[in-house]
Amino acid sequence: MTPFDLSGKTAIVTGSSKGIGRSIAEHLARAGAQVVISSRKEGPCQQVVASIRQEGGQAAAIPCNVGRKDEVENLVSETRRLLGPIDILVANAAVNPYYGPLVEISDAAFHKTMDTNILSTIWLAGLVKPDMVARGGGSIILISSVGGLRASPNLGAYAISKAADFQLTRTLAAEMGADKIRVNCIAPGLVKTDFAKVLWDNPVARKMAENSLPLGRLGESDDIGPAALYFASDASQWVTGQTLVIDGGSTIVAPSTTE
Ligand SMILES: NC(=O)c1ccc[n+]([C@@H]2O[C@H](COP(=O)([O-])OP(=O)(O)OC[C@H]3O[C@@H](n4cnc5c(N)ncnc54)[C@H](OP(=O)(O)O)[C@@H]3O)[C@@H](O)[C@H]2O)c1
Repeated sequence: MTPFDLSGKTAIVTGSSKGIGRSIAEHLARAGAQVVISSRKEGPCQQVVASIRQEGGQAAAIPCNVGRKDEVENLVSETRRLLGPIDILVANAAVNPYYGPLVEISDAAFHKTMDTNILSTIWLAGLVKPDMVARGGGSIILISSVGGLRASPNLGAYAISKAADFQLTRTLAAEMGADKIRVNCIAPGLVKTDFAKVLWDNPVARKMAENSLPLGRLGESDDIGPAALYFASDASQWVTGQTLVIDGGSTIVAPSTTE
């Protein structure tokens, strides 16, 4: 049997109606997991569920805004009711409600960023932990960003939340290791999704970004999905608390060549 096999496992992937989350959900489903597709809007989630079922996979849609605690609690309890105990959590959904100097951000926008991007992951980890303990282990995966590795002018609060993911990963991994719950993180570079459209959807910006990358192209969502499968499965059974950067090499070149 391949160490990537997820037969009999149940996974929640937040923000999985499109983009990186969708690719992650599809890769987990193809490896045999039952997958909960979740985002704020139910319609797009149902479309992903239909497409996974068409491929022979198992999936269910449960809408949830991860910034709302009652909806996060419902996501976990509905997953248990529909599919059973949770083995894998992918905390992928994130928001960036503000663009501009950090000192000018409103308190509301700052709190929304931290609640949705960080506090929600703490809620989710606490809610799925009892299932994982009862099952003898589990895997939690955080989706961060290379934006958390360097100063990101005008994206300050978002980047702070993404830097916090690295430490949150280490903290949860240390606290949950004795229960055989592994916690790891993926930090993507620029991936061609709606979320990052402003950074790649015009020929000049795109060419500049491509030229700055050792691998010469921007990321696709399917560049990230397989890495989540690695962390979700026994293939990574002795790996915890780690962050994997997947960025076409953007962070290995000197800043002067990436401007
Ligand atoms: N694209 C990049 O270049 C890039 C780079 C580094 C890191 N990332 C990270 O990758 C993750 C996914 O981003 P993406 O690029 O794949 O974005 P995307 O294509 O825009 O997809 C975002 C997904 O999250 C859902 N979502 C948004 N706000 C939500 C909320 N409050 N609660 C629950 N679901 C929510 C969206 O659906 P609804 O609108 O229906 O809620 C959608 O399913 C994020 O954590 C982002 O920070 C992206």
